Order: sequence, then structure tokens, then C-alpha cells
Amino acid sequence: MDFPSELIRFLTSATRIAVLTGAGVSQESGLRTFRDAQIGFWAQYKPEDLASPEAFARDPKLVWDWYAWRREAVKGVRPNAGHYALVEMESKTPEFTLITQNVDGLHRFAGSKNVLELHGNIQRVRCADCGTFTEIWGDDSESVPTCTVCGGLLRPDVVWFGESLPRGELESAVLAARSCQVFFSIGTSGLVQPAAALAHAARNNGSVIVEVNAEPTPLTPKVDFALHGKSGEILPKLVKAMWG
Ligand code: APR
Repeated sequence: MDFPSELIRFLTSATRIAVLTGAGVSQESGLRTFRDAQIGFWAQYKPEDLASPEAFARDPKLVWDWYAWRREAVKGVRPNAGHYALVEMESKTPEFTLITQNVDGLHRFAGSKNVLELHGNIQRVRCADCGTFTEIWGDDSESVPTCTVCGGLLRPDVVWFGESLPRGELESAVLAARSCQVFFSIGTSGLVQPAAALAHAARNNGSVIVEVNAEPTPLTPKVDFALHGKSGEILPKLVKAMWG
């Protein structure tokens, strides 16, 4: 794959790069994207009907079990070449911020350092009442585990529909988008706010916008470079073209 020489020139001279990733980056690790159809028992549910405070209030066990299934799905999964290409890009860029909507933890697992998990991480669990984080919980399959501090129900430490994003991460993400010279939007449909607004904040700041996605998205008409294909194939080639 040949890249426009102008893109390579921008990238190799950039000292400040911000990257937003979505489920597409993890797809080549074997993880279904957020809007892929669910499978098996979970095919009867849409993610939007499970990933919300209302769903958890209505049926905490069903929501807890969905995340337990998703944690199991992530357990056997490894980062792919796209994750590792971003680790290398970070190592070569003085100011590099990786903003992810993914909750699978694969960027950190691959070795990325400056990672902002906008939507949380399914490996982390917290009390729905007092917010205490916990790494261990009872695995009684009949009921949702409870908090050892206050007895409240435990829930995954992820951002559900209708909930606000972690303030610190969001503020840092906006700062990175507004100050970068190049902004990548990778493996995301760009449908969900406020993450989807970051590319526009970067564009308003005069950053070069690069989209790497399997298919066009609502952002595509507004980017400077649209690289359509698999991130696990494009990113390693791009890093090689930038730094040999
Ligand atoms: N390489 C690059 N892009 C890919 C690949 C791949 N191998 N496979 C799929 N894609 C693209 C799809 O074309 C799609 O545009 O990745 C995008 C994934 O989009 P979504 O499934 O909507 O996932 P995402 O954009 O991460 O969703 C954002 O929505 O509901 C919330 O919290 C949820 O974090 C999620 C957020």
C-alpha cells in the first residue's frame, strides 16, 4: 500500500499526535465490534439494551452476566499488529496520546503508555453504590456479587449509555485533540458522542486528520487522508513508511 508522500511528510515531522481508536482496532484480535451482531444466548439482546443504568436496575444479573461473558471473551485475546504499530508510533513521537473507546484493555496490554480509556475497562469492577473498586469478587453464579465495604451491587467500571465519561480522561482527550498536529481516527464508526467530537475539535485546531477504517464513516468527508482497510494491515505499513 502506497501512502501519499504529503501524509508521510506530515507524520514524520509531527511531534504531537493524538489517536482515537474504536472497536475496529480490536476486531482483528477476534473481538467483535460494538455494533457487530451479538452471538449465542446474547443474540437476543442489543448492546444498547444491556449497557445502561436502566438495564442494570431492571435486571442486574443479566447485565452482570453479559459483562462476565465479555470478560471471558477478552481473556484469550491478544493484541494484534495494529495495537503494536501504535506502540511503536508512540515510542517515536515526543507527545503521543492514545484515546480509546475500547474497554478491552488491549492497548495497555500491547505496551501503549499514555492511554485514555474514555469508556472505562471491563476488567475493572466497582460498587454501584459507593464506587469502591475491587479486583476480586465472589463468583456465585446465582447472584450479582456485592461490595465488601457497603454491600451494594458490583458493576463493571465502564461508561453506560446515558452516563457521563470520566472527567479527567475526557478533559485530557480534548486537550490532546486541540493541541495535536495530526489526529488519527482508527476503527471507529464515529457515531457516539463525545468521542466522535474529538476529530472535529482537532480539525478546528488545524490538525491534519487521518482516518483508518474498514469502511467510510460520517467523518470520512471531513478528513485530510482516508485510509480504508484493516487497521492491523494499514498501521504497520504506515509506521514502516514513516520510520523504515
Ligand atoms: N480495521 C479497521 N476498522 C474496522 C475493522 C478493522 N479490522 N473492523 C471493523 N472496523 C470498523 C467498522 O467498519 C466500524 O466503522 O470499525 C468501526 C467499529 O464501529 P463500532 O462497532 O460502532 O464501534 P465503536 O465506533 O468503537 O463504537 C463506539 O459506541 O456504544 C458505544 O461504548 C460503545 O465504545 C463504543 C462506542
